[in-house]
Amino acid sequence: MRVLGIETSCDETAAAVYDAERGLLGHALHSQVQLHAEYGGVVPELASRDHIRKLLPLIREAMRQAGTGPEDIEGIAYTAGPGLIGALLTGACLGRSLAWAWNVPAVGVHHLEGHLLAPMLEDEHPDFPFVALLVSGGHTQLMRVNGVGDYELLGETVDDAAGEAFDKTAKLLGLPYPGGAALAALAESGRPDVFRFPRPMTDRPGLDFSFSGLKTAVVVALQKLGGAPAEQTRADLARGFEDAVVDTLAIKAVRALDETGLDALVVAGGVGANRRLREQLRARLDARGARVFYPRIEFCTDNAAMIAYAGCQRLLAGERADLAIDAVARWPLSDLTLSRNAETA
Ligand code: KG4
Ligand code: ZN
Repeated sequence: MRVLGIETSCDETAAAVYDAERGLLGHALHSQVQLHAEYGGVVPELASRDHIRKLLPLIREAMRQAGTGPEDIEGIAYTAGPGLIGALLTGACLGRSLAWAWNVPAVGVHHLEGHLLAPMLEDEHPDFPFVALLVSGGHTQLMRVNGVGDYELLGETVDDAAGEAFDKTAKLLGLPYPGGAALAALAESGRPDVFRFPRPMTDRPGLDFSFSGLKTAVVVALQKLGGAPAEQTRADLARGFEDAVVDTLAIKAVRALDETGLDALVVAGGVGANRRLREQLRARLDARGARVFYPRIEFCTDNAAMIAYAGCQRLLAGERADLAIDAVARWPLSDLTLSRNAETA
C-alpha cells in the first residue's frame, strides 16, 4: 500500500509518500520558523494561511521524489490532532478532499502517534512493546507502546513541556524563538555545575515531570546576578539548565524501563534532537543492557513521513475516516485504539 501523508498541526507544512513494501519514497517540508520569529512564538492565523500556500507545492514535490502519480496513491493520511485547530483543518480539508477526488480511503492520524512511531521508519527499529519518551514543544510523556494504537500513559508533565521549558529559558537568555536548539548550542561553551539547578520530582516515586520551577530557578539566578550577564555566564546558565532537564528526563526514562521491565526505549519529539540527552541516555541504558532508538534527526521534529507511516499502518488494519473532515485541537493519546473512525468512506 502506498500512502500520501500530510502534516499541518503547527508551524511545519509537510508531505510524504510511504510505501508499505518499499519504505519512504519521498518527503518535503517547509518550516515557518522565520515567519513566526518576529512574534516570539507561533501565530495561529499566520500558520494556517501559510499552510494553505505551501501544501499543494509540497505534495507535488513529495510525489515527484517518489516517482508517484495520483493513480499510484492508495490512501491518504493527514494529521487530525492535537494541534492548532485552524492549521489542522488546512491539512485535513485538503487530505480528505484529495482522497475523495482520487477515490481512495483517508485516515486521520494522531500527531503524537506519528512521533512515537517515527523510529519505525529506520532500518534499525525496536520491536513492540517498548517505552517511549515523547519530548516536544507541547508534550512530555512516558508511554508504554504495546503496538500500533495501543498506548498506555505512564507519566507526563504536570505543567510545562520539556521543549516549552527550553524555549522559555532560551527567551530569558535573550535567544530567538524557538530557542531549544540555540540554548543547546550556547550550553556547549558553558561549564557544568557553575549553576546547579534542581532535578524536579526525581526524589519521589512516580513518572510525572514538572519543568516550570526550573525556569523560575533560572529567573532567580538572573536576578541575583543583576544586570546583563556576561557571555560566559549566559553559557554557564544554559549548561546548568540543560543538564537539569537532561538528567531529569534520563532518570525518569530509566525508571520507566525498571517499572515496566522492558529493555527498549524510543525517544521522539523535537527535544530528542538534543545531543546531551542522547549521550546521557546511551550511557545509562548501555550500563543496564537496554537499547535506545531515535528517529533520524530530521524526523525528530514535525514531518509528514511519520504521519504517512502511522496512517499506512492504520489503513492496512482496515481503518477508514468517513467523509466528515476530522480535526481536533485536544486529543489524549491514551484514548487511541486501532479502530477509531473505522467506518467505510
Ligand atoms: O516535536 P517538535 O518539532 O514540535 C512539537 O510538536 O512541539 O518539537 C519542538 C521543540 C521546541 O520546543 C524546540 O525548542 C525543541 O523541540 N528542540 C530542542 C532541540 N531542538 C529542538 N530542545 C533541546 N535541544 C535541541 N537540540
Ligand atoms: Zn510534533
